[in-house]
Amino acid sequence: MVRSFVLPLLAAAGIVSAATLPRDNVDCTGVNAISPKCRSNEVKYTRDVYYVGGRLISTATGNITADQLYVEKLTPTCGVKHPNPLVFFHGGAVSGVTWLNTPDGRKGFASHFIEKGYQVYLLDHTGVGRSSQEATSEYTLWNSTGVESVQAGFTAPELNPTYPQATLHTQWPGTGQKGDPYFDQFSKGVIPFTSNWTMGELSMRASGCKLLSLIGPSYLISHSSGAQYPILLSNDCPDLVAGNINLEHSTQPFWNYGSALNSGSSIRPWGLANTPLTYDPPVTNSSELSKEWDGEDTLAKRRCYIQTEPARKLPQIAKVPYLCTTGEASVHATYDHCVINYLNQAGVKTDWIKLGEVGIHGNGHFGHLELNNLEIASVVEQWIQYQDRQKR
Ligand SMILES: *[C@@H]1O[C@H](CO)[C@@H](O)[C@H](O)[C@H]1NC(C)=O
Ligand SMILES: *[C@@H]1O[C@H](CO)[C@@H](O)[C@H](O)[C@H]1NC(C)=O
Ligand SMILES: *[C@@H]1O[C@H](CO)[C@@H](O)[C@H](O)[C@H]1NC(C)=O
Ligand SMILES: *[C@@H]1O[C@H](CO)[C@@H](O)[C@H](O)[C@H]1NC(C)=O
Repeated sequence: MVRSFVLPLLAAAGIVSAATLPRDNVDCTGVNAISPKCRSNEVKYTRDVYYVGGRLISTATGNITADQLYVEKLTPTCGVKHPNPLVFFHGGAVSGVTWLNTPDGRKGFASHFIEKGYQVYLLDHTGVGRSSQEATSEYTLWNSTGVESVQAGFTAPELNPTYPQATLHTQWPGTGQKGDPYFDQFSKGVIPFTSNWTMGELSMRASGCKLLSLIGPSYLISHSSGAQYPILLSNDCPDLVAGNINLEHSTQPFWNYGSALNSGSSIRPWGLANTPLTYDPPVTNSSELSKEWDGEDTLAKRRCYIQTEPARKLPQIAKVPYLCTTGEASVHATYDHCVINYLNQAGVKTDWIKLGEVGIHGNGHFGHLELNNLEIASVVEQWIQYQDRQKR
């Protein structure tokens, strides 16, 4: 038996895991868990980092690199057991950090899938975090999303509901408000991202397919506005996309919804994207896409843009198996059907799992960080396994 005062030294040397260190009288709540006295719930993997794609721009002071993509390769220590890697795309205003340990120190999605033997890749999208870009290359930035908007939209929508499903929200750890240690950890990870969707999409299309050509066909797992990129990669290099999995896709056709009825603003002139998609019959200018509102606008179920019949098809995107999951208490419960309807009308088969209907209750928009996050991961994993069986 090793004497206890030796343990910290052995832990520092990597000989015993930090999990064996004593926790008595140590506060490991929120950021306090950064203390070496607190154990990690993440799993064992090795990490390698790369920059993928990009180009040189000649400036007065020399050539600078633009559009490169930061990628972490996380390899399970126990070995890779599945043929296709998983590539994770974070949502707007956060970074690849969103897939690591949760703000309250539980296992995140990356650890869950690493533990199951998946090769995992995490990105910071171009213009974000460690893929930050030069102002010379048109990457105008949004100011970071306000703490109050994060509370109202994501972590505590039930306090001042702007849509009826919000009252069902129960899964955010802690109060979801300023001053709560878990909220504060989460909201400090909210960072600026580019407001130029055109630039963001063009660079992600180039660097994204380049990444997939280097690592082979992969399942792309995205959250929220991160879903804009896998749909483009499905369009551009469908043979390299084993499946497109979206946790609450933010690709609502032609529109960003406001919280009031009939409110919002135009975006994504190509239907699901701001940059060209391959339609059949072909479209050379997005103004050739003819659209109309479908359904009544209610706060529980928003109206959607669909194509005016006869609808053009999306033959490239149709080659890729598609899944969306939607949380019972998320604002996405009010409009995720719009993306599904649009895809179906354009000849794309989709699976859509409303989590409340499979016994997973109370999730807001950041379900992958909430108390039952691993139940959601398990739904995703079962879908991947199903796709793998279809291919054999
Ligand atoms: C950038 O690289 C190009 C091609 O190598 C070269 O012609 C050019 O002079 C470089 N620009 C600067 C400012 O050094
Ligand atoms: C960003 O924040 C700064 C500092 O408060 C403010 O001056 C500026 O107007 C904001 N920009 C936008 C686009 O909201
Ligand atoms: C956004 O990026 C595109 C593509 O590079 C560029 O043409 C456009 O000028 C940029 N818009 C802004 C507002 O910077
Ligand atoms: C697309 O069509 C619109 C409407 O006809 C026109 O104003 C616009 O200039 C066109 N864009 C391009 C890139 O040709």
